[in-house]
Amino acid sequence: MRLTETADVWWKNAVVYCLDVETFFDTDGDGRGDLQGVSQRIDHLAELGVTCLWLMPFYPTPDRDDGYDITDFYGVDPRLGSHGDLVELLTLAQDRGIRVIADLVVNHTSDQHPWFRSARESRQSPYRGWYVWRDEPPPDADKGIVFPDQEDSLWQYDEEAGQYYLHRFYKHQPDLDIANAEVREEIERVIGFWSQLGMSGFRVDAVPFLLDTAGALDASGLPDPHDYLRDLRAFLDRRRGQSMLLGEVNLPYPDVRRFFGDEDGDELTMCFDFIGMQRLYLSLARNDPAELVQALRSRPDRPEEGQWGTFVRNHDELTLDKLSDEERQEVFDAFGPAENMQLYGRGLRRRLPPMLGNDLARLKMVYSLLFSLPGTPVLFYGEEIGMGENLAAEGRNAVRTPMQWTTGLNGGFSTADPAELAAPVTEGEFGPEHVNVAAQRRDPESLLNWMRLLIRRYRECPELSWGECTILEHESPSVFAHRSDHEDGTIVALHNFAAEPARVTLAVAGAGVGVQAVDLLHDGTTDVQEDGMICLDVDGYGSRWLRIIRPGDRYIL
Ligand code: NOJ
Repeated sequence: MRLTETADVWWKNAVVYCLDVETFFDTDGDGRGDLQGVSQRIDHLAELGVTCLWLMPFYPTPDRDDGYDITDFYGVDPRLGSHGDLVELLTLAQDRGIRVIADLVVNHTSDQHPWFRSARESRQSPYRGWYVWRDEPPPDADKGIVFPDQEDSLWQYDEEAGQYYLHRFYKHQPDLDIANAEVREEIERVIGFWSQLGMSGFRVDAVPFLLDTAGALDASGLPDPHDYLRDLRAFLDRRRGQSMLLGEVNLPYPDVRRFFGDEDGDELTMCFDFIGMQRLYLSLARNDPAELVQALRSRPDRPEEGQWGTFVRNHDELTLDKLSDEERQEVFDAFGPAENMQLYGRGLRRRLPPMLGNDLARLKMVYSLLFSLPGTPVLFYGEEIGMGENLAAEGRNAVRTPMQWTTGLNGGFSTADPAELAAPVTEGEFGPEHVNVAAQRRDPESLLNWMRLLIRRYRECPELSWGECTILEHESPSVFAHRSDHEDGTIVALHNFAAEPARVTLAVAGAGVGVQAVDLLHDGTTDVQEDGMICLDVDGYGSRWLRIIRPGDRYIL
């Protein structure tokens, strides 16, 4: 392959790292992380091998949904810094070869947004039509509620407006109406603004809800929402080629595929793989990769330049909504049996290490899998050191605790009085005295150093993310084996979902003499038999990545 392709289509083998500025690093001692803090810690990301930083919402907000309730799409929350601080961060990131993307949250605004305040004030407001209003809620107003612990309807009566408004999420987040051309134009301006400032794309919040115009009273004559997504993508490409849109689309596979657009991929550049993630947890609960295999087999082909965003954890509840009730219960039983670990009846408010009993070998196996599966891995801050959750925090905040840098006060996150922190630091087995960046930098066996190695190898092996993935058949049910081929390159990976060691015999190459398999994560070289078969051992919860070397290949690393 032409290597520059991996630079042009950079998202296809990127390493995306998601962080919340508020909980990353506090430089002014007010207990809240800030943009200058991210700048100061940029080398942590660079050393890890991150190539794309996803900043969770940093806009002005009343903060009733962790910043996903925005009052100014063009602003920077003054508690986090200024536009100047953001440009400094973009400059530093660029110097380290890290692109930055922003969260685009335009399905709704905060009810404190000046547009909504004006809209609710009078029917004559120029912003009235920017939201979705009705005199009476529709009969299905209680269907599809996202936060059932707090809401019982998608429609809220507003005294001031004298009408009901649509809110797919909390009632303080009224939905914008993209059936309105002015709203669509404004969203383009927002995208144009941040692109011009230096963002390389957007993580698009709640895409299916954003496109849903069902709330509009007269849906006839509305543009096809997918046309709108296509327009948005074309606009972004015109303004800044090489930008990407990474969409949150938690739908069954065939439905997600539509959001990539046509064969050339003219809508979202990437979609998160929620289905693969959920099947992975079921596989982990069963110590059997069969469910993951089934997900990969049913995953639709993405467009040539599109990509799946793979992940183990994000900032929300670990949603298991696409599993059957029995399957979800199996995952609950294995990884979150207590009621206070579960949320909304569909997910877990835990991070991976406590779910796996802090078993380092097993954790390493899961991340090895993440970096070797076809797709672009997306990490949530703290995963690289194996942070745990704080079940004493409310709801989804359990997994949004401050980054743990050292054993010092507040885990080195802030010098503020612990009572003043934006979020309390995790305590106990996963507290900073046991889990922190400083200690893991020095420990060659740490999760952090394992992550660095995985990321280095992943970047050296674009076959993994660019190539065609084939699931390899063999006789050991606990081992997931796959190969990725791209042009002349072949990588084979083995992952053992069980605690017992296993031996597998696989076909990895065409017949021939002198073919070898070179381990990429440990030392070792194994001869491939002349018939293309190879016999490999894999430890309990072990993982191996191997490059297939054919005679004449100039593989020198
Ligand atoms: C999805 C985000 O991931 C979640 O954190 C947020 O609460 C909702 N969208 C509403 O914006």
